[in-house]
Amino acid sequence: MFEALQDQPKDKILALMALYRADPRDSKIDLGVGVYKNAQGITPVMGAVKTAEARLVQTQESKSYVGLTGDPAFADVMVELILGDAVAREQIAHAATPGGTGAIRQAFELVKMASPDATIWMSNPTWPNHPSIAKYLGMNVADYRYFDEATGGVDFDGMCADLKQAKRGDLVLLHGCCHNPTGANLTLEQVCKVASIVKTTGATALVDIAYQGFGDGLNDDAAATRVYASEIDEVLIAASCSKNFGIYRERTGILFAIARDAGTKDRAQATLAYLNRQNFSFPPDHGARVVTTILEDAELRSAWLSELEATRQGMLDLRTQLADELRRLTNSDRFDFLAVHRGMFSRLGLSPEIVEQLRDDHAVYMVGDSRINIAGLNAQTVPVLAAAIAGAKI
Ligand code: LMR
Repeated sequence: MFEALQDQPKDKILALMALYRADPRDSKIDLGVGVYKNAQGITPVMGAVKTAEARLVQTQESKSYVGLTGDPAFADVMVELILGDAVAREQIAHAATPGGTGAIRQAFELVKMASPDATIWMSNPTWPNHPSIAKYLGMNVADYRYFDEATGGVDFDGMCADLKQAKRGDLVLLHGCCHNPTGANLTLEQVCKVASIVKTTGATALVDIAYQGFGDGLNDDAAATRVYASEIDEVLIAASCSKNFGIYRERTGILFAIARDAGTKDRAQATLAYLNRQNFSFPPDHGARVVTTILEDAELRSAWLSELEATRQGMLDLRTQLADELRRLTNSDRFDFLAVHRGMFSRLGLSPEIVEQLRDDHAVYMVGDSRINIAGLNAQTVPVLAAAIAGAKI
């Protein structure tokens, strides 16, 4: 039967990863997939993670199954990390998932069960796997305006106008912080306006938060999610620990469903457990336990926070350096937005032809829509990238 299988659409981020690996040039620069790299080009295991893992090896007595929705202690620490006290704990159903992607998938499936004709509203642009998963599940997708190519900021009027078209039974997908792929984010005032629009439509919101701690700091990065969670009637939250704990391959994520009353919360909780059972049974535990160990221990938590803060600061420094260098070389403020954007990514606003030219002539790898991963740079490669961009006919 396998001969009946069709070629599947390629994921453009993962396809780029393969192209980069195959390039023999020593000078190559990887600004593709969203993985943090330090100045030496290494994605390190964080110190707190190593300590927590060592502790687990010493103390863990069983690797038997936990529960379909994971360890409740993991859910508790993640609620505290993401939501603080913005929402009463009794309102929150949860399920641990294989990474943030697993949480997105479960969220879409839950929505499909509850509202089979739902339209999922996504920012234009968004992480390419969002529409890919929705389409795979046979769900309707619509765009709302988001990125303003001319300014490198948010087209807020367009966004608001489009979101008003969402309906009860639809899902509005919002980025919690550090918008992927653009790097352009809403102010808190704008977040409040979006929350009020979505609430008025009666649609359910899904907040994807995968980069908490990479933008303005752990709490500031959670601020938008907290507003959405407390203002909008029904909210799903898909969170990832891949980036802020640097545990990409452990597949550590969680999905929250915030309901307005105990009855619907229980129904959401039972559905999340059912969906986990159908799709993969028990969620991965190791990464979740590492995160719980760190967040429950004051010393480990503070070590983790310092390392996360240094990571964030390093990315901000690279942003400033790149914006300065481009201002100098292009004699214009065209790329000043780089210093305003937050998170790992910025969309540069270069044409696909220029992106290809940068790859062919300079071994600079960025996603075709000109998204760069800031953390793929270091102090030595920033001037190389800036010179390549300034030298291209943009
Ligand atoms: C990215 O956008 O590069 C990351 O979220 C990694 C991925 O899985 O695509």
